[in-house]
Amino acid sequence: MIGIFDSGYGGLTVMKEVTRLLPEYDYVYLGDNARAPYGNRSKETVVKFSEEAVNFLFEKGTRLVIFACFTASALALRELQEKYLRNPQSKYKDRKILGVIRPVAEKAVGETKSGRIGVVGTRGTINSKAFNVELKNLRPKVSISSQACPLLVPLIEEHWHTKPEAKMILRKYLRPLKSHNIDTLILGCTHYPLMIADFKKIMGGRTKVLNSGEIAAESLVDYLKRHPEIEKQLTREKTGKFFTTDNAEKFAAFAKDFADMRAEDVETIGIS
Ligand code: DGL
Repeated sequence: MIGIFDSGYGGLTVMKEVTRLLPEYDYVYLGDNARAPYGNRSKETVVKFSEEAVNFLFEKGTRLVIFACFTASALALRELQEKYLRNPQSKYKDRKILGVIRPVAEKAVGETKSGRIGVVGTRGTINSKAFNVELKNLRPKVSISSQACPLLVPLIEEHWHTKPEAKMILRKYLRPLKSHNIDTLILGCTHYPLMIADFKKIMGGRTKVLNSGEIAAESLVDYLKRHPEIEKQLTREKTGKFFTTDNAEKFAAFAKDFADMRAEDVETIGIS
């Protein structure tokens, strides 16, 4: 089984792409809706919540957990990889936890011609500088402009992202990135692909806007090719089970609206 973890609904944009490219496996999705959003929370809190999520998904028997959430990838991934995978006392040493920041950074470095890259995300992701670290590791001379866009997640979840007010806010957020003449823009948040057309329109034809859900999915395909020992352990009944820490009906309805996904098997759980 492959586990997909997100603070709430956003990871469905990643799951949708992953299941499109790799439909043969079994998936378990966990959305921590009761405690979402994570975007403005402290590192300590995001680490604690993410650890509880990983524990839950490993207990369910997943061999591989993907942190679809950029905020969790930025603030908690490294620590939890250390704790679960590299600690000799851990009972989950043979499992894997993958994040979304590294693959998207790799793609951006491959795409940019000018070396000027923009990153947008939640406040937690941007303040962590996780993208800056990855991008600089990959190409030290890259120039990075970042912008936190904290109003976008609530607007998208309220279905307000198609309204002129949302586009006006987006234009304001993107102004500094436009003036830096970036040629590549990373959408470093699970929700932003829902506004990708607006990002493209505002940035103009010379800026490539990277769809993070697609990139995360492509990178998983590549990872499984490079790690047949893990791929062999994955069960393949084509099942999809969804867990949420909030209301199950609301989750199913949102999955349809938000990611055009049919979430038939949704269960409410408590994790702590
Ligand atoms: N899933 C989060 C991310 O990608 C966005 C929503 C939240 O703030 O929890 O950063």
